[in-house]
Amino acid sequence: MRTEQPKVIYLKDYQAPEYLIDETNLTFELYEDHSLVHAQLVMRRNPERAAGDAGAGLPPLVLDGQQLELLALSMDDQALTAADYQLDDSHLTLQPKAATFTLDSTVRIHPETNTALEGLYKSGKMFCTQCEAEGFRKITYYLDRPDVMSKFTTTVTAEQHRYPVLLSNGNPVASGSEEGGRHWATWQDPFKKPAYLFALVAGDLWCVEDSFTTMTARDVALRIYVEPENIDKVQHAMDSLKKSMRWDEEVYGREYDLDIFMIVAVNDFNMGAMENKGLNIFNSSCVLAKAETATDAAHQRVEAVVAHEYFHNWSGNRVTCRDWFQLSLKEGFTVFRDAEFSADMNSRTVKRIEDVAFLRTNQFAEDAGPMAHPVRPDSFMEISNFYTLTVYEKGSEVVRMIHTLLGAEGFRKGTDLYFERHDGQAVTCDDFIKAMEDANGVDLTQFKRWYSQAGTPRLAVTEAFDPAARTYTLSFRQSCPATPGQAEKLPFVIPVELGLLDAAGNDLPLRLAGEAQAGGGNRVISVTEAEQSFTFVDIAEKPLPSLLRGLSAPVKLSFPYDRDQLMFLMQHDSDGFNRWDAGQQLSVQVLQELIGQHQRGEPLQLDPRLLTAFRTLLDDESLDQAMVAEMLSLPSEAYLTEISEVADVDAIHAAREFTRQSIGATLFEPLLARYQANRAISRETGYVAEAAHIARRTLQNIALSYLMQSGKADVLAACLEQFKDCDNMTERLSALAVLVNSGFEQEKAEALACFADYFKDDPLVMDQWFSVQAGCGLPGGLERVQALMEHPAFTLKNPNKVRALIGAFANQNLVNFHRADGAGYRFLADHVITLNALNPQIASRQLAPLTRWRKYDDGRQQLMRAELERILASGELSSDVFEVVSKSLA
Ligand code: ARG
Ligand code: ZN
Repeated sequence: MRTEQPKVIYLKDYQAPEYLIDETNLTFELYEDHSLVHAQLVMRRNPERAAGDAGAGLPPLVLDGQQLELLALSMDDQALTAADYQLDDSHLTLQPKAATFTLDSTVRIHPETNTALEGLYKSGKMFCTQCEAEGFRKITYYLDRPDVMSKFTTTVTAEQHRYPVLLSNGNPVASGSEEGGRHWATWQDPFKKPAYLFALVAGDLWCVEDSFTTMTARDVALRIYVEPENIDKVQHAMDSLKKSMRWDEEVYGREYDLDIFMIVAVNDFNMGAMENKGLNIFNSSCVLAKAETATDAAHQRVEAVVAHEYFHNWSGNRVTCRDWFQLSLKEGFTVFRDAEFSADMNSRTVKRIEDVAFLRTNQFAEDAGPMAHPVRPDSFMEISNFYTLTVYEKGSEVVRMIHTLLGAEGFRKGTDLYFERHDGQAVTCDDFIKAMEDANGVDLTQFKRWYSQAGTPRLAVTEAFDPAARTYTLSFRQSCPATPGQAEKLPFVIPVELGLLDAAGNDLPLRLAGEAQAGGGNRVISVTEAEQSFTFVDIAEKPLPSLLRGLSAPVKLSFPYDRDQLMFLMQHDSDGFNRWDAGQQLSVQVLQELIGQHQRGEPLQLDPRLLTAFRTLLDDESLDQAMVAEMLSLPSEAYLTEISEVADVDAIHAAREFTRQSIGATLFEPLLARYQANRAISRETGYVAEAAHIARRTLQNIALSYLMQSGKADVLAACLEQFKDCDNMTERLSALAVLVNSGFEQEKAEALACFADYFKDDPLVMDQWFSVQAGCGLPGGLERVQALMEHPAFTLKNPNKVRALIGAFANQNLVNFHRADGAGYRFLADHVITLNALNPQIASRQLAPLTRWRKYDDGRQQLMRAELERILASGELSSDVFEVVSKSLA
């Protein structure tokens, strides 16, 4: 906690460290009421910074350290006293006498009361760590920055009975027992690493063991550690790990480098997971999955997060970041890697649809809000606030564009060079781009604006067909809105993948003016100027363009399609992603028309073409069911909010609900047929984890949710049958959600009670139970959430619970959160103030919905701002919360 304004840190001020730490030898003594950390640091002057030393002498050594009680300090075995150093609440400063020296320190820390879940803390009965980004300074005095890389040896001592398992990074090298029921284990990590990759775990854990034979025939032991009651939920993560290891060898040529790879699941975790060298620590929600307790979506998330953290071993650990402004160097790249992995393991098109829907709804909103920042930020107050959708998701899109521009082979040449050139180094986004340029002989200077300019570019496209000349010209105009600190933007390089459809829906051969011959029906053109035209020749009839296929760039494209053209693209586009996108654009047009009608107090009249398009999808048995399910899903209220100038939450909700009801009523027969056929297979086969079955269940559940809009008794009966008689969480939770959102009060109450009673001891299932209720848009949402906060399974100390209840309410239940009297805002602000003292990272993240106040009408704007002001005035704010609140009020 701070009393003055936190300092702003700038990328332009970066300087290499004054000192280096070659070796880090740590001993932890873990106790119930405190822990002791002995650190021996073998240090030397950084030769890069030593030029002026001869005249000026050695600079002071400034170590980071927070919430540490210094018990002993010595340099080269000479004990130091208070007169030899300066101590403030975040640094220990001393004066080295020689260019190489060894520093020994002992500090006392309190993991048992650490609710911020940063540094060393307890999750339930186990000790664990989270050091990224700047948590290691809460463990010992250190140069806590990613460009200081050291060889770590770690000894952990603890009570044998409570903590039989003692883990750290690298390989186990020794262990033994001590007097008084204690024992110890020593781990050695042969790879130099920054402190943010340090990890320690001590607990009563069970593990599932397996092994992996690498491409050079080395055997790697694989272990996933969990609390004993979860041992039956680990197999899916283990399978995902082995697939990830194989994929990284095949697609990137990357082999694992230690003899052992471990994952530990912990219940209390601020984020998804952490890639600590050889010892990944995971939020249990990203490891544990079995059919009875986790949905298909949850299984896919486990697969993706296991892959993501594993892939970091190269993109993040072997090659790491020079400073935290470069965070996207590892995160954007690794998100791209895990997305491609998931695309290869499952449906590529569906994966892309899901990612794009998420990006457009959430990252585009962030990029248009007060916290907008470039993929490589220029400054920050609190680095924890920059683990953002922009750094991760937009960062991944930037890497994807490089892949699109260079092609798969060129991209691989670039990554090979990058890994070879920078192995063991801490580098920058510029180094990544340079490797791509050097390996491919290209110039990416202009492309690099994607790293430095914030905001979502707009790309307005118009067409001109000249039948006499048989030419078709597409004209592009790009622009990018101002973002905080960036008024003017220069043009981006925007790769636009496109095709031109003829009247039968086939891709025309594409030949640009000046080209000798046509190059296929799908191609990528680069828009690099503010205004630029491309003329295609040999075009006999006016085509229909399919633009930005697969969302080939993270931009907002506009083209004046009419609804019939969108319906045509929905049916005929050779690009599955754009078929879906045409459907989304059609839905948006129709919904916006209804929103207007609602605002003018007119009766709502749905354009029947949307129903026709949906009926066509349901009637076509040859379509991939996963695609049908995606295409039948209406844009979310959050997305409709994002694309509104001023979001009218009530009109958006009314328009969308009205459309859902119309779909349920008009398409009742085909929806019922699909539902019954798919549910019959579910009953017959039981749960099958394969893609085709996942697709079938998804469609089954979407159909059920539309059917339930009818309020018919036999649909209710079907829903209850599914709820009671299924063997998996995908069907059970969907049925529960449908009931919760229905008006069948008694059945709803019974189902909720029965579910909670059965699953009360499984915290991850209870999270889903909270979420389903928190997201329910029926009137009275805030009161329901307030009541659930009193439920015995709820606690503000567990981030998953906070996200499941408060987060789901504020982010997914827009009509209740934004109720006109501001009670939803007050509720969120109250909890942000409480969380600020408990867990600043979580507090700051939960704040996000309030920072979007500019999107709403004057009345709501005032109410939201008032709550932000109230948080600001509430007392000592963490740097996390202060930065977000002050920037969003500025
Ligand atoms: N590097 C982790 C990842 O895989 C994220 C951990 C960040 N944690 C934090 N508390 N900021 O994405
Ligand atoms: Zn990551």
